[in-house]
Amino acid sequence: MKAWLLNDFGLDNLALGETGTPDPKAGELLVKVGAVSLNFRDKAIVDGFYEPHLVPKALIPVSDASGTVVAVGEGVNRFKVGDRVNSHLYSRWLDGEPGPDEPAYCFGMPLPGGLAEYMIIHEESAVRAPDNMSDEEASTLPIAALTAWFSLVDYGQIQPGQTVLVQGTGGVSIFAVQLATALGANVMVTSSSDANLEAVKKLGAVAGINYRTYPRWEEEVLKLTNGKGVDLLLDVAGGEGLNQSILATKAAGKIAQIGFLTGQSTTLSLMPLIFRQTTVRGIAVAPRSAFDRMNAFLNEHAIRPVIDQIYALEDARKAFEHLARGAFGKVVINVS
Ligand SMILES: NC(=O)c1ccc[n+]([C@@H]2O[C@H](COP(=O)([O-])OP(=O)(O)OC[C@H]3O[C@@H](n4cnc5c(N)ncnc54)[C@H](OP(=O)(O)O)[C@@H]3O)[C@@H](O)[C@H]2O)c1
Repeated sequence: MKAWLLNDFGLDNLALGETGTPDPKAGELLVKVGAVSLNFRDKAIVDGFYEPHLVPKALIPVSDASGTVVAVGEGVNRFKVGDRVNSHLYSRWLDGEPGPDEPAYCFGMPLPGGLAEYMIIHEESAVRAPDNMSDEEASTLPIAALTAWFSLVDYGQIQPGQTVLVQGTGGVSIFAVQLATALGANVMVTSSSDANLEAVKKLGAVAGINYRTYPRWEEEVLKLTNGKGVDLLLDVAGGEGLNQSILATKAAGKIAQIGFLTGQSTTLSLMPLIFRQTTVRGIAVAPRSAFDRMNAFLNEHAIRPVIDQIYALEDARKAFEHLARGAFGKVVINVS
């Protein structure tokens, strides 16, 4: 089969080649990949700053895929040939609390990903792709949408009328705006781009703050919330900004620590954390059960993924470059 192989770190070392088509073993599905979508994780893996010691070489990258089952291994009964499925990043985390070693079973690293004509997905970790979505649309769901959903619903327990702050206008954040709005929350967004802030308002956001114009953006959040702070903050920026996130969140409020765009470590000021009694929870996407619940909600509320651009398989490197430049919504690669 045709596959993109990451032979060493750096986009120059990502090459389109040929490799053997895998055989589905007992319980496994062979999926003809229709489309994949890129996440910051995929770029960080290619660039060598996402757990580089765990990256096999060569690796078929990209975790998030959608496609059609073309063969099944012995004993498969959840899916049949012809069904459309999604990959689910934490392939062994099906429900409840995560086990201690979930990252060892993630697609796109260390398991082979979807940037190839075919991929293997165990029937237990596959999720039925929404009938009303194309493969391109469905491919955007496994990380970006599901992380936003888990942060807002399973962790955040967001109720109508509550306030949510979402950082930036990348993949996770745009889904968070759409989902939180559908849940009845008042969503505020920070962005480096006034044009993107206008665009997220069309998706339901009630206020936008340019974090370049207002580097002390947490003060603007307090002004917008009568000095109180938001009920839930989705932190995708990470780094030192976590201290600002704590100040922007209400007393006894919640922060979902999702990302590390500005840094993988921080110097945390403990006194604001203690006095504000903030809960900060690390988020690592979600179990498969949450994916099924999210798909029902997306269908009920007619939420469609925002796609910035779709690339051909041969142009995968251009797609990675697009993600690095910044995208409004998801960058997708059509594989079929
Ligand atoms: N833990 C998990 O389960 C999980 C799941 C998904 C993603 N993540 C992580 O979350 C982060 C975002 O992922 P993604 O895939 O959504 O990324 P993405 O699509 O590449 O989005 C990046 C966007 O983040 C915004 N941004 C950059 N620096 C910022 C800052 N200092 N403050 C506020 N916004 C900033 C920018 O928005 P503007 O252009 O509007 O400024 C940029 O477009 C990454 O670190 C990723 O690894 C974690």
